[in-house]
Amino acid sequence: MSAVLKPMIELRPMAEADLPAVMAIENAIYAFPWTPGNFRDSLAAGYGCWMYVRDGEPIGYAVLMHASDEAHLLNLSIAARWQRQGYGSLLLQQLCEVARGHGARLLFLEVRPSNAAALRLYERHGFQRIGLRRDYYPAPAAREDALIFGLPL
Ligand SMILES: CC(C)(COP(=O)(O)OP(=O)(O)OC[C@H]1O[C@@H](n2cnc3c(N)ncnc32)[C@H](O)[C@@H]1OP(=O)(O)O)[C@@H](O)C(=O)NCCC(=O)NCCS
Repeated sequence: MSAVLKPMIELRPMAEADLPAVMAIENAIYAFPWTPGNFRDSLAAGYGCWMYVRDGEPIGYAVLMHASDEAHLLNLSIAARWQRQGYGSLLLQQLCEVARGHGARLLFLEVRPSNAAALRLYERHGFQRIGLRRDYYPAPAAREDALIFGLPL
């Protein structure tokens, strides 16, 4: 007889000790990654910094800023080898629950128009485009605009 074991998925708070694992993923998946200082500042500011762990292995993370009845998703990342397996969707769903638990009625975020994977993910979860920030992101040649997406919670 054989059994298929389900992986153990855990969302837990990020700690300073997670930064080497976080930076290994961050540097591999972004052309313009956050620095360790960006994560340290987020931890020090008390933002919701979360690790997404599969069978003990960090496979993603997120940073969520809570501000009264809004939450701002500042970072959402899945390690390259775990992408396109539904984990980004699962992590986003859990972050929506966290934001709701903090009393947020709206979750918003910025995304590059060139980021097809993220656009697909957010549209799939019902986010609507609510604005544009011109020249928001660094880019190889010039700057790139940011689309602002919002999701009522
Ligand atoms: C964006 C990201 C978090 C998505 O995570 P993921 O685990 O790959 O996403 P999922 O497997 O849950 O897929 C979600 C949807 O996006 C689609 N998708 C995922 N990767 C895609 C890609 N490279 N191109 C097009 N669509 C893609 C999936 O097909 C799925 O859509 P479907 O349900 O209609 O099939 C992940 O690609 C990532 O970490 N990218 C680098 C960091 C980043 O850009 N973060 C977002 C910054 S705003």
